[in-house]
Amino acid sequence: MYRTHTCGELRAADIDKTVTLAGWVQKVRNLGAMTFIDLRDRYGITQLVVGEHAPAPLRETAGSLGREFVIQAAGRVVERASKNPKIATGDVEIVLDTVRVLSRADTPPFTVEENSDGGDDLRMRYRYLDLRRGPLQRNMMLRHRMAQSARGFLDREGFLEIETPFLIKSTPEGARDFVVPSRMNPNEFYALPQSPQTFKQLLMVAGYDKYFQIVRCFRDEDLRADRQPEFTQIDCEMSFVEQADVLDTFERMARFMFGETIGVEFGAKPFRRMPYAEAMARYGNDKPDLRFGMEIHELTAMAKGHGFGVFDDAEYVGAIAAAGCAGYTRKQIDELTEYVKRPQIGAKGLVWVRIEESGEVKSSVDKFYSPEVLRGWATELGASPGDMIFVVSGSRRLSLRVLSELRLELGERLGLRDKSRFAPLWVVDFPLLEWDDETARFYAMHHPFTSPKPEDIPMLDTDPGAVRANAYDFVVNGIEIGGGSIRIFDPELQARMFDLLGFTPEQAQAQFGFLMNAFRFGAPPHGGIAFGFDRFCSLFGGADSIRDYIAFPKNNSGRDVMIDAPGTIDQAQLDELFLKTVTA
Ligand code: AMO
Repeated sequence: MYRTHTCGELRAADIDKTVTLAGWVQKVRNLGAMTFIDLRDRYGITQLVVGEHAPAPLRETAGSLGREFVIQAAGRVVERASKNPKIATGDVEIVLDTVRVLSRADTPPFTVEENSDGGDDLRMRYRYLDLRRGPLQRNMMLRHRMAQSARGFLDREGFLEIETPFLIKSTPEGARDFVVPSRMNPNEFYALPQSPQTFKQLLMVAGYDKYFQIVRCFRDEDLRADRQPEFTQIDCEMSFVEQADVLDTFERMARFMFGETIGVEFGAKPFRRMPYAEAMARYGNDKPDLRFGMEIHELTAMAKGHGFGVFDDAEYVGAIAAAGCAGYTRKQIDELTEYVKRPQIGAKGLVWVRIEESGEVKSSVDKFYSPEVLRGWATELGASPGDMIFVVSGSRRLSLRVLSELRLELGERLGLRDKSRFAPLWVVDFPLLEWDDETARFYAMHHPFTSPKPEDIPMLDTDPGAVRANAYDFVVNGIEIGGGSIRIFDPELQARMFDLLGFTPEQAQAQFGFLMNAFRFGAPPHGGIAFGFDRFCSLFGGADSIRDYIAFPKNNSGRDVMIDAPGTIDQAQLDELFLKTVTA
């Protein structure tokens, strides 16, 4: 037996027991005659002591231990003279009788402790060392508990966990595919699934009316803190349901996971539901952070006709009021202006209106607007003395984006985005289609299998851009955690959708024939949702980046720097796959 206890287990009640522990040496402190060793495993840290009266060989071995050596140590549990309330085992230490080195270790490239001194890149290269640290171990445990929680809930609800293939052909989710050449089918390629979308729909046709899978998805897209090229979904689909049934089921799942894994309860009131159009108008964003207000108000009518050309010529003028910010200095305003002018956001400028505590108003556009007019804006925004109003103009689309970013940035600066609070929300009634100027065609906003709202179907011919879909997102704290829709199950309507999306019948048949054919053999009404599991984990853990919740993530260039992938393959392998490389 390598160990009788873990390194996180021993308490005052264990005093006088003889125990054997095994783990990694986190730290060795030689204090003259005494040696203290912090022994770590994923359960915690226990202090080991080799006293001055210990036999010489034991003292020698203890003195020779280096960081990250793997050892087995046996001894007696004693009360600690100076207790450490910061760790669970802090009341006790083990006075060692024996210590055995199971595995030596090179000096680690960074300290493997709660707070490491290693940079990002170095820690990624030695991910297995980073994973030994408390923060990452807690993240992995949270992830595990969340997966179990979701599985347990879905199992009890009668969902079946069914695996779907990874070697498939393109799924129409809108990102680029990762492709895999086929040795047995020269010049043909599989694609890795961007999601199991078409397979879960086929499972509905096959009669498995409640399906789920905690499944890896692959998307070749630009990476960000909340995007990885391979990520995990809790993917679900149900038959004989309408939107309300899906939202109800998965709201219960989310509540269950919040409660069971992090002890967060939301009370009896259902999660808020907000149409997409309302989210855009009030927050400039289809995934609003509802932990704080600071809503957007349109001022277009009030701002025009006063001789200020910028507003007069604008399609849209809108504003937000930042509570208590009237005292912002010139420098702070300039900083915010620079922030929204960054190319990613694209503002042209920022107009401000200060409402002094005295009630007096001052603005960067005093030349054009009388105090009465500016007070009218303040009333429209519900702003009070002490507040600062920021006004943005331009196209409606751009202005809303700028105001949304500004709102989030101000929320951050004002400490309104507290990570221990959660504001869940269903955004519903997404547009079915999205127009793309560059390619001059419509794209499916969610995916081509999403059904239009029945009452909007007549508009498919007259005003396709205005058609709303039975599509919904689950949003928490401004993060899109999940998304889904009720699907089209009528082959004719599906064919019409493909037509709208610019597919010829032949193209549609070639790409999605398998699904359309399946629908001819009795397709039940169905719909579902997929949660971004990595995002769910980082949300619960109070972090911004999903990387720390994935054991072996990729860096921002899509590389695994630990195994050095992607990499080249040798000529024989290329030949076998009928591939030729060209110089990039
Ligand atoms: P969607 O494309 O909205 O829907 O994806 C569902 C959820 O997956 C997460 N997600 C990601 N997480 C990390 N890295 C990525 N690159 C990434 N891309 C997406 C998001 C998102 O909300 N088949 C449909 C679902 C359905 O209709 O049932 C789908 O995949 O949290």
